[in-house]
Amino acid sequence: MKWDPSKYVEFGNHRDRPFHDLVARVRSVEPGKVVDLGCGPGNLTATLADRWPMARVVGIDSSEDMLRKADSLRRQALPQHSHEQQPGGLTFEQGDIAEWYPDADTDVVVTNAALQWVPGHQEMLAGWLRHLKPGAWFAMQVPGNFTSPSHTLMRQLAESSEWSGRLSGVLRHDGVVGSPADYLGIMLDAGCAADAWETTYQQVLQGEDPVLEWVRGTGLRPVLAALTAEEAADFEAEYSALLREAYPSTSHGTVFPFRRIFAVAHKPA
Ligand SMILES: C[S@@+](CC[C@H](N)C(=O)[O-])C[C@H]1O[C@@H](n2cnc3c(N)ncnc32)[C@H](O)[C@@H]1O
Repeated sequence: MKWDPSKYVEFGNHRDRPFHDLVARVRSVEPGKVVDLGCGPGNLTATLADRWPMARVVGIDSSEDMLRKADSLRRQALPQHSHEQQPGGLTFEQGDIAEWYPDADTDVVVTNAALQWVPGHQEMLAGWLRHLKPGAWFAMQVPGNFTSPSHTLMRQLAESSEWSGRLSGVLRHDGVVGSPADYLGIMLDAGCAADAWETTYQQVLQGEDPVLEWVRGTGLRPVLAALTAEEAADFEAEYSALLREAYPSTSHGTVFPFRRIFAVAHKPA
């Protein structure tokens, strides 16, 4: 299942805002090493290098396409993020979050809109927090919209008699993310100071079928990957009709409420 960086960066403002809201709660002053897990196209990782210019900022992602995009962005940003200018710098590495562990240098971990793709991440979080050095921060954001119409309609259609033969088991929405209380509990149990919350952003989208466009870049990808191009077009035609009813177009655009879950842990120094 390939990620498409150009599709993903559409709706940039709406996708970026939760990242900034998350990172605003990390009060690390002069970290030596900052890791962005599931960094995607790297544009937001670069803002971490701007905020902490002395830090070594490392973006990790499993998608070659995303990393290619991230690397070209890094080159454009040179010398701003150059190793020659400062002890810090911005680099990107290919890796699987499920295989990752913080090393002894890591001061800040940020992971935005990525852990929902990593089964078992709640257990991993407990392990990561145990391994983090004293004084380190861990900040995460995951979407909490799996019971909203965009996702329930997608699931209902995929499980309908027409599509279940092709799409059975492809959508994994149950238990994909925890509640804010789940993440808070894991962080407190690990002996950290913790802050967990949720926000529903009332996003006003423009254009024709904007909710379909939105989910094409994220939640619909497993469905599209499982179908031929012709089947995908048929599925999208049926799904977009349902979306238009659930999210009617108004003179202001289409309101697409989006719930997101945030949690920030600070390990005692
Ligand atoms: C929705 S994008 C978020 C990108 C970026 N963090 C942002 O906020 O713009 C999710 C990213 O997680 C990456 N990802 C998903 N599962 C992963 C895994 N197991 N290991 C590493 N990266 C993963 C995908 O390749 C994708 O780039």
